[in-house]
Amino acid sequence: MQSRYRDVYESWRDAPEQFWAEAAENLDWFKPAEKVLDESAGVYGRWFVGAETNTCHNCLDRNIAAGRGAQDALIYDSPMTGAKTHFTYDAMLEEVQAIAAVLVNHGISKGDRVIIYMPMIPEAVFSMLACARIGAVHSVVFGGFAAHELATRIDDCQAKAVISASCGLEPGRVVPYKPLLDHAIDLAKTKPNYSFILQRDELHAPLRYEYGDVDLAQAIEAEKLLGADVPCVPVLAADPLYILYTSGTTGEPKGVVRDNGGHMVALHWSMENIFGVKPGEVFWAASDIGWVVGHSYIVYGPLLAGNTTILFEGKPIGTPDAGTYWRVIAEHNVKTLFTAPTAFRAIRRDDPEADFVQKYDLSRFRALYLAGERADTETIKWAERALGVPVIDHWWQTETGWPISANPYGLGLLPVKYGSPAVCMPGYAVEVLDDEGHPVADGTLGNIVVKLPLPPGALVTFWNADERFRTSCLEEFPGYYKTSDAGLIDEDGYLFVMARTDDIINCAGHRLSTGAMEEVLATHPDVAECAVVGIADSLKGQVPCGFLVLKKGVSRDQAIVSREIIQLIRDEIGPVAAFKNVMIVERLPKTRSGKILRGTMQKIADGLPWKMPATIDDPAILDEITAVLQQHGMAETA
Ligand code: COA
Ligand code: AMP
Repeated sequence: MQSRYRDVYESWRDAPEQFWAEAAENLDWFKPAEKVLDESAGVYGRWFVGAETNTCHNCLDRNIAAGRGAQDALIYDSPMTGAKTHFTYDAMLEEVQAIAAVLVNHGISKGDRVIIYMPMIPEAVFSMLACARIGAVHSVVFGGFAAHELATRIDDCQAKAVISASCGLEPGRVVPYKPLLDHAIDLAKTKPNYSFILQRDELHAPLRYEYGDVDLAQAIEAEKLLGADVPCVPVLAADPLYILYTSGTTGEPKGVVRDNGGHMVALHWSMENIFGVKPGEVFWAASDIGWVVGHSYIVYGPLLAGNTTILFEGKPIGTPDAGTYWRVIAEHNVKTLFTAPTAFRAIRRDDPEADFVQKYDLSRFRALYLAGERADTETIKWAERALGVPVIDHWWQTETGWPISANPYGLGLLPVKYGSPAVCMPGYAVEVLDDEGHPVADGTLGNIVVKLPLPPGALVTFWNADERFRTSCLEEFPGYYKTSDAGLIDEDGYLFVMARTDDIINCAGHRLSTGAMEEVLATHPDVAECAVVGIADSLKGQVPCGFLVLKKGVSRDQAIVSREIIQLIRDEIGPVAAFKNVMIVERLPKTRSGKILRGTMQKIADGLPWKMPATIDDPAILDEITAVLQQHGMAETA
């Protein structure tokens, strides 16, 4: 069948406001928009100005009114605990209203910020929706971040409350959350009024009632007994739904702000038109609610579209084996799976012949979508062979909230070009510019930018930091949003995303800032200078590698210093940083103007061909770096 993609893209380009106004008709509004797009509002314009709505109403109440009350809204499948729990739309509404009532009774109201620091349990999703229901702004923090990162976020958004759990579960270990939370609150200048703690059976946390701790499960039960009935608070389309902090180029994370109106319109549109899932079907994003993929495609997208979403608390391998994903797909009738290429590299490593696939009935499974990092062709081809369904690379970012480019199953698939996340989605006019801002010829590498205004669903600003948003994303290429990705567009309009232009690395699909790691390393008393680069890793795509110059006179055992350094990153940023490579070197290679040659070090470590930079201050340093890397079994040319 001919793809409708080109016609639909053109219809958007010809009349963008009409396109999104029509998409908005599929959702409920308490008050219609005065303007579909007000270009003079906000930093670059605002969508659905003047409209009133509520995102939770559109996720739950609207679908129940349409007859979906008895349909599963969420299936919690946890190989970590053995739990498999189904929540219908009706049941979910009851849970969400109970948490909303708990929040309201503790003084949380419209506009207040609530941090959600939770593992992959249903209450995390219910809490997000409860905030949305009462107009509070949630900010979910990934469980793999340490206390300091949590404290930074509490302070930046001035959280009035935190919703958390007693523990998370990682293979082979229980991660106690409460001590991390208590430490974060000690570190933070803003003291939240309440910490709502969900006690899990695997570990109970001692609660400090005198400091505002509340046993969440007890509070929920009490509200349910009272028959909690919490109406949706009308919010403006332009009001913030959530803040999601993501890595910037410094240690200070950026609070991406998502609005209510544009967000729900874009996500609703994407479910059927991009991912090709129809209302009532099961969609699974195997990610974490702490990341944007979790926000958009575990929680909001599928629920807005009347799908059943899967909340999976486990890993692609080891919980218990490399067949877990196939079990979940077969058992819950998943039509479309979305995950990161890393997950498939892990599965392939454990089960190269895909033997586990044979054990499950995947005949109803339709498509696999991969994003979050560059999808290598080998992995895509392996997945295609193993699963016999289209394997679709698509590209987007925390900032955009939904795919910038994809091969749209819903509109009809286009031919696949390996290595390319295909074509721009309606809403995104993507161009490639050179460093001076001039368009480059087809097939030429440059800065990937998106013409303003950004579509509904993309970030509207950084929390309390309009100016930072302007300067870091909009200033360098006037009239465009800078994605900080480099790549090219070929003669057929296919995009190829090659690398970041900043210090962000992608490790196991997790976005990390090497600059933030350098800031932490510099605080170690023995460290004089440091540089962190992302080096190639066959499983995680990239992992960080720290090069450290110790202060003169430091004579301590280098192995001990290295261990301390690794622990420091773990304590300050969190285990998710996966910081395990430390190279202690005599000197760092620099240009004559003092700029550290991180790119050259990265190439040497990866065993790639590299050229002596013309501006290098002392070429001999690169030999020293190579020697140290070789001692660690790296820098071998292929
Ligand atoms: N809470 C606490 N700790 C966490 C955590 C969480 N939510 N998530 C990860 N960690 C810890 C891990 O336990 C690990 O700790 P360790 O150093 O003590 O072993 C560390 O952070 C690094 O985690 P990770 O990079 O995920 O590596 P891993 O070896 O545990 O797992 C994969 C490797 C490939 C199985 C895993 O990264 C994965 O499932 N990736 C899928 C990608 C994904 O979901 N991306 C989301 C965006 S789509
Ligand atoms: P995050 O904000 O965590 O979603 O990370 C976004 C970044 O991940 C992008 O800016 C890219 O650098 C990278 N990325 C995401 N998806 C892809 C993809 N399909 N191909 C290449 N890089 C990707």
